[in-house]
Amino acid sequence: MKILIAYSSKSGTTRECAEELAKKLSPQVPTLANLDESFPDMTSYELVIVGGYVRMGKISKNAVRYIKENEAILGETMHTFFICCGDPESTECYFQRSIPRPLLDNSISNMSFGGDLRIKEQKGLDKIWAKMILSSIKNNNISENMNEEMAIPAVVPENISRFADEIRHCF
Ligand SMILES: Cc1cc2nc3c(=O)[nH]c(=O)nc-3n(C[C@H](O)[C@H](O)[C@H](O)COP(=O)(O)O)c2cc1C
Repeated sequence: MKILIAYSSKSGTTRECAEELAKKLSPQVPTLANLDESFPDMTSYELVIVGGYVRMGKISKNAVRYIKENEAILGETMHTFFICCGDPESTECYFQRSIPRPLLDNSISNMSFGGDLRIKEQKGLDKIWAKMILSSIKNNNISENMNEEMAIPAVVPENISRFADEIRHCF
């Protein structure tokens, strides 16, 4: 089966998750494409997987642009979406905000793989924001008023495995 995994990644997490997903789909050998470099022609693929990261509540611009520019083709091709984000509870909201409803409804699965803040990889305002979020999570977690601990963003490998299983069921 010809499979395309097209991803957009700012600090590397989404790229690494896309690579991990490709391994988990073995013995299939998906083509990996970085949407921040170019938009591949998806017409020759039987399954198209698009992944992006979330910043400021939105799925990465290049992933969304690629999906919207190819909406008609995706509508006639088996497809599925994943995101990397720090707040997995908002997964559904992120998808709905950025991806056309019919594509979401007909997707094999719409999954979050969790995320990683990677302070060292961030630059400028992104670095400041990421540091603020991390220290706010840590401070809240030591506050006596908090009933529940907030989780520091982390990739969830089980979600990548689950996603790969759901895809494999469609072969
Ligand atoms: C500047 C910045 C803004 C972010 N905004 C959000 C957000 O609005 N919602 C969310 O769930 N995660 C947010 N995150 C977490 C990222 O989605 C997460 O770190 C993800 O793994 C980044 O993927 P990448 O390494 O492929 O760029 C943000 C991270 C940074 C650094």
